[in-house]
Amino acid sequence: MTADAIAAASLLPAGTAVLGPEPASLGLEDRMEATVTGATKPAWHRPFRPGSFFGRGGGDPYARALRRRRGILDLIDVDADPRAEPLARYDAGAWFRATPGERALLGALTGPVLDIGCGPGRFVAAARRAGIDAVGIDVEERAVRLARRGGEAVLGSVFHPCAEITATGRAGAGWGGVLLMDGNIGIGGDPAALLARVREITAPGASAWVEAATGRWTDRSFAARLRDARGHLSDEFPWAVLGPAALAAMAADTGWEPVTERSVNGRPVCLLRRR
Ligand SMILES: C[S@@+](CC[C@H](N)C(=O)[O-])C[C@H]1O[C@@H](n2cnc3c(N)ncnc32)[C@H](O)[C@@H]1O
Repeated sequence: MTADAIAAASLLPAGTAVLGPEPASLGLEDRMEATVTGATKPAWHRPFRPGSFFGRGGGDPYARALRRRRGILDLIDVDADPRAEPLARYDAGAWFRATPGERALLGALTGPVLDIGCGPGRFVAAARRAGIDAVGIDVEERAVRLARRGGEAVLGSVFHPCAEITATGRAGAGWGGVLLMDGNIGIGGDPAALLARVREITAPGASAWVEAATGRWTDRSFAARLRDARGHLSDEFPWAVLGPAALAAMAADTGWEPVTERSVNGRPVCLLRRR
């Protein structure tokens, strides 16, 4: 699909965003279907309704946290013991300002950089300040609106064709650098499919910073919900958590080479290079 065709299908004014008519029903959902009917059934092999994305629906805890610019959000496995610890805990306030350790990650990337699941866009803002060509992509409209205050962002799914181009029409060679921070390797609930997709949209030799979970061999795909401190629960969505060792093994199988690992704000972040 050409940039013009995607722009024509966009729900937003031309030149400001590239959004397919139903990102959830394209690409991502198709991939889920393919995985579910394939040889290996992930743990969450249940039908998710179209548009089942991180923290969306129900009490809308993600949109609420973005509106308030703060709040603690717990990621829970729907099928786990309700008394179990959350699989991840996010501080939404931290999504609004990059730390020095986070900003330093940008130095290892060659542009143009795609921040996948950019949220309110602290990385695209930091990249702009550092003179690095970067674009965020996110399925959450409020997040994209916030991200556009500090940089460039596209409304859509990483699995949608819009991830290959940007609002300004860069095309062709692919992204030189990618960010999958804040546990975003969990997007779609199938990290191998996501790594393969990221390989598809990047240039040869591209690098990707991928934040991992703390348990080295953690490798879990599940039906998740997000819950805020006031008890607002999202609908179910597919997600995954992956530790650094499990990520390195999966990277090798999906056309990536693990290069190095850092601890940033106490979280493991791994640099992968596209083979
Ligand atoms: C854990 S939050 C990450 C927050 C973000 N990195 C930040 O700095 O604020 C996950 C993000 O991924 C986005 N997301 C979920 N599925 C996506 C998809 N298929 N394509 C792009 N973004 C997606 C969510 O809307 C959400 O903003």
